[in-house]
Amino acid sequence: MNDKKFYITTPIYYPSGRLHIGHAYCTVATDAMARYKRLCGYDVMFLTGTDEHGQKIEGKAKEAGVTPQQFVDDIVAAPGGVLDLWKLMNVSYNRFIRTTDGYHVEAIQKIFRAMYDKGDIYKGSYKGKYCTPCESFWTDSQLVDGKCPDCGRDVHDAEEEAYFFRASKYADRVRDLLLNTDFLEPRSRVNEMVNNFIDCEGGLQDLCVSRTSFTWGVPVDFDPGHVVYVWLDALFNYMTALGYQNDKYNDLEKFWPADVHFVGKEIVRFHAIYWPAFLMSMDLPLPKKVYGHGWLNFNGDKMSKSKGNVVDPHLLSERYGVDALRFFLLRTFPFGSDGNFTNELLIQTINVDLANDLGNLVSRTTAMAEKYFGGALPEAKESAELDQALIALASGLRERYEGQMEKFQFQNALEEVFKVIQRANKYIDENAPWALAKDMEANGGRLAQVLYNLLEAVRVCTVLLTPFMPASCGKIFAQIGAGPDAQTWDSAARWGVLPAKLSVAKGENLFPRIDMAKELAELDAIAEEAKKAALPALEIEPLTEEQVDFDTFCKSDFRAVKVKDCQNVKKSDKLLKFTLDDGTGTDRQILSGIAKWYKPEELIGKTLVAIVNLPPRKMMGQESQGMLISAVHTEKGEEVLHLLMVDDAIPAGAKLC
Ligand code: ME8
Repeated sequence: MNDKKFYITTPIYYPSGRLHIGHAYCTVATDAMARYKRLCGYDVMFLTGTDEHGQKIEGKAKEAGVTPQQFVDDIVAAPGGVLDLWKLMNVSYNRFIRTTDGYHVEAIQKIFRAMYDKGDIYKGSYKGKYCTPCESFWTDSQLVDGKCPDCGRDVHDAEEEAYFFRASKYADRVRDLLLNTDFLEPRSRVNEMVNNFIDCEGGLQDLCVSRTSFTWGVPVDFDPGHVVYVWLDALFNYMTALGYQNDKYNDLEKFWPADVHFVGKEIVRFHAIYWPAFLMSMDLPLPKKVYGHGWLNFNGDKMSKSKGNVVDPHLLSERYGVDALRFFLLRTFPFGSDGNFTNELLIQTINVDLANDLGNLVSRTTAMAEKYFGGALPEAKESAELDQALIALASGLRERYEGQMEKFQFQNALEEVFKVIQRANKYIDENAPWALAKDMEANGGRLAQVLYNLLEAVRVCTVLLTPFMPASCGKIFAQIGAGPDAQTWDSAARWGVLPAKLSVAKGENLFPRIDMAKELAELDAIAEEAKKAALPALEIEPLTEEQVDFDTFCKSDFRAVKVKDCQNVKKSDKLLKFTLDDGTGTDRQILSGIAKWYKPEELIGKTLVAIVNLPPRKMMGQESQGMLISAVHTEKGEEVLHLLMVDDAIPAGAKLC
């Protein structure tokens, strides 16, 4: 039996809309960690899921005209939904929990009752400021500039009869946990938690844990009308998914307490204060660690649907490949801090690290093995003095990498791998295999040795890159002829693992170089299209409320007019000049700003409608005697205009009334 166990979780996501790259960031990090631990020989439980209750979901479902259950089912399980996204991104979760799953709902009811029976949940009434999107009550002193301190949005007054959790009772124990253990990391987040929520004015407040203002939640079974607060419901997912208070699973003993919960920085408060307090109340062991990662912004701005800057992981995976995207997220941003996502940075990382450094090393090495030895490397000689720098760097890599991975410093772990990759590329230049190949008889043995060393360096790096880019690493192993024994964690710390007589086959180019300028232009065009698509399809101007009396209306003289001639007005890209037959026998000239929608020649001969008793006015130095009538609306944010055209049987000058 394997006694090395590792339990890791992502937050469970709100299925209130499509997930973006920020959500993918945390999930990919968790996946890399889970794969790394499996590689190290751990029995891993990787849990993710969706947090499906609450007022926000209830509201969204109402807007969409469906039940809340239909709404969440559509976002989670329908094609292109959350489950599909994780499949696409090769996320190797072991279990997926939905908080609407029956076993979880029943467990939450039992937990709520147990806390109530213990006296840690009591009934009171809540008066405060409520932030609907965050589903949080705030006191006046917690607001920042009168707004929600988490999301910065407006809050409103609210009062309701509610149940409260006696968080205050656990304040000292939680403070001790935060200040005197490694429970919360990075350590920089500890003071903020203690100062703002425990050692603040009034101390740690009891937490409102039921709601009566909506119904989409776990019902409090002993008090109809109350539903359990989403955060109490959500946090216990980490245990119900193992079988706590239910018979669906039986893994609690094996995996609880969790080794680490990865969470975004804005939800550290719930995980570092209330979650341990809930567990203390239930006399349960605490998770070993909560790690609060930073946020990905987009072009310096917070990612948000309303700003239209949400980056779509489906689109990016499709364009660059899942592995390149996974790699970029963890290679570029330090996990504990905020990062700024830009398209330039993404393309640059792919070009520099993957195409230039890794891709080149693999393709040059395998191409030379094919060219000089037909892919079958002869047995190599002893390594030479010149080889020692590369061998020493690669042999110590696993240890340095492990040190960083254990601290969740993915960026640094990858930096270590790339130092070896860059050293190996330099080793190619130092040894100039193409020069050795000129005299195979004299140098064939040395050439085989150089290529063997390169293949070993590639192999060690590939083992350690596997948690980040599983599919691509599988392909590299195939190209360099590394069998299962040469792909293990153990083998990554050893040199000379590849068999002496190797069979190498150059395969597809794994990371093609991207043309930055062309790609950026295409991405901009896609973003522009997406912005347009998000605009309302059709907008009609509201009807004018102010009434016009009949006599005033009758003063307007509308006539059918025939277009005798139509031309663009010089130096104007808007105006068309019409020569019209209005039935009087004298031509009428009207200028109209419709060049964007019509070419002059398509209008000649048409019968239009004009108002003919407006005072003449000058436009671009020319007189306009009236106005042509058109129908106007907005489509995808753009004004659309249609000239009013009538039956050509209507004679010029006929009055419209
Ligand atoms: O908070 N960059 O769900 P959620 C990085 N249901 N991370 C981001 C991000 C960004 N731009 N945007 C969001 C919830 N996240 C709760 C969790 S757990 C018991 C309940 C991260 O869908 C965010 O920080 O709003 C959070 O960790 C996660 O996505 C889920 O956010």
